[in-house]
Amino acid sequence: MKNVGLSMIGGGFMGKLHTLAIQSYPVYYYPPAVNVFKECVVDVNPAVAEMSKIRYGFERSTTDYHDLFEDDKTTAVVVATPNFLHKPIVLDAIKAGKNVFCEKPLAMTADDAWEMYEAAQKAGVIHAVGHNNRALSGIRFIKKMIDEGKFGKIYSIQMRYIQSWGMDPEAPMQWRFDASKAGTGTLGDTGSHALDIGRYLLGNIKRVSSLNSTFVKERNVAAGALLSKVPDKDQITGRQKVDVDDDTKSVVEFESGVTGFLWSSRFCIGQEDTLDIEIYGSEGAAKFSRERPNEVQVVFKSDGDELRGFRTIKMGPAHPNGELWPMADLGVGYVEQKCVEYKAFFDAIANDDPSLVSCSFYDGFKVCQVVDAIKKSSETGNWEYIDNTK
Ligand SMILES: NC(=O)c1ccc[n+]([C@@H]2O[C@H](COP(=O)([O-])OP(=O)(O)OC[C@H]3O[C@@H](n4cnc5c(N)ncnc54)[C@H](O)[C@@H]3O)[C@@H](O)[C@H]2O)c1
Repeated sequence: MKNVGLSMIGGGFMGKLHTLAIQSYPVYYYPPAVNVFKECVVDVNPAVAEMSKIRYGFERSTTDYHDLFEDDKTTAVVVATPNFLHKPIVLDAIKAGKNVFCEKPLAMTADDAWEMYEAAQKAGVIHAVGHNNRALSGIRFIKKMIDEGKFGKIYSIQMRYIQSWGMDPEAPMQWRFDASKAGTGTLGDTGSHALDIGRYLLGNIKRVSSLNSTFVKERNVAAGALLSKVPDKDQITGRQKVDVDDDTKSVVEFESGVTGFLWSSRFCIGQEDTLDIEIYGSEGAAKFSRERPNEVQVVFKSDGDELRGFRTIKMGPAHPNGELWPMADLGVGYVEQKCVEYKAFFDAIANDDPSLVSCSFYDGFKVCQVVDAIKKSSETGNWEYIDNTK
């Protein structure tokens, strides 16, 4: 069995999720395809680096990711830093011959994402992007049903990923509100997940007509303040312009002719982390909401008028990811969906086959193309087209 020396760059929110998934991997998938060893955790903040080493059980920690490339102990790198660092870190890791699992959005622009994809392919390393929602049982089940033709010809899709955490104008500035660090706002953050699901289910998007909005245009700078928590007055050191979208709405058309909507927002009171996908076809329809992640709602024309109505299917052993638990309804949640991604990543490493990953750099690039087009459409007011020859 291959050994994987895994090092993680970024010990924040995603560092915790990745660690839980990596630790769960050999428990859910036994025997594992590879033997994973938690080599090094990197965070530019020395206190976070040290805490992460102890809390997450890594062999060592450092504040400079370049340290990982000085020996062969690290064979795979997880990139869980703010978005603007994805490209330089990934390119350095590829140059050092490491397999790479990068968080989403893959890059700040589609051009950057393409460069990363080409570099990974040329180097022959395994590459994956953390669009983990396509790994959810319900989403995989809907894809299976679409591919089997159960819903007939698909007419429409609704892709909605809405949150509320950005609403308080007193909540402090952070990298997610800063275009130089995040690229875009809610669009690349949660919108990218919804777009990835749309493409996973229905293929490439052809064109978009979009409107981005920034509702709070300036925020307090308060170093050390927590996301969405109002900082104390003595923490505030100034004001900074918010130059990303708080909310984005698009009409989209797929290459297949399916039309639909994307709505992503961090300004929806009461919606904490709501990812809803709906598809409607000639023979039936399906609805999924991550608020109830173990259920899919379906309706079929063949139900007849008398019995017509959405009914609930409980995800279980008969469905995708059914090997995780012996009964329906036990749950494929946030940690499990990341673990499903890791299984694919480790299978790809074990078999030296990049095609086995759940979501590749190419998939990440295709999402970045749509994100770029949405941004441009909101600026120009025009329909913007995606280059699907690439
Ligand atoms: N897949 C998902 O569900 C999901 C959810 C949230 C975030 N993300 C993505 O994960 C990435 C990280 O987001 P987060 O929420 O964990 O952010 P975060 O701000 O909580 O953590 C980022 C960490 O990176 C560290 N860091 C910054 N510069 C660094 C450097 N040069 N070297 C090493 N460490 C550095 C920071 O100190 C911080 O601890 C982003 O790309 C984000 O879009 C994905």
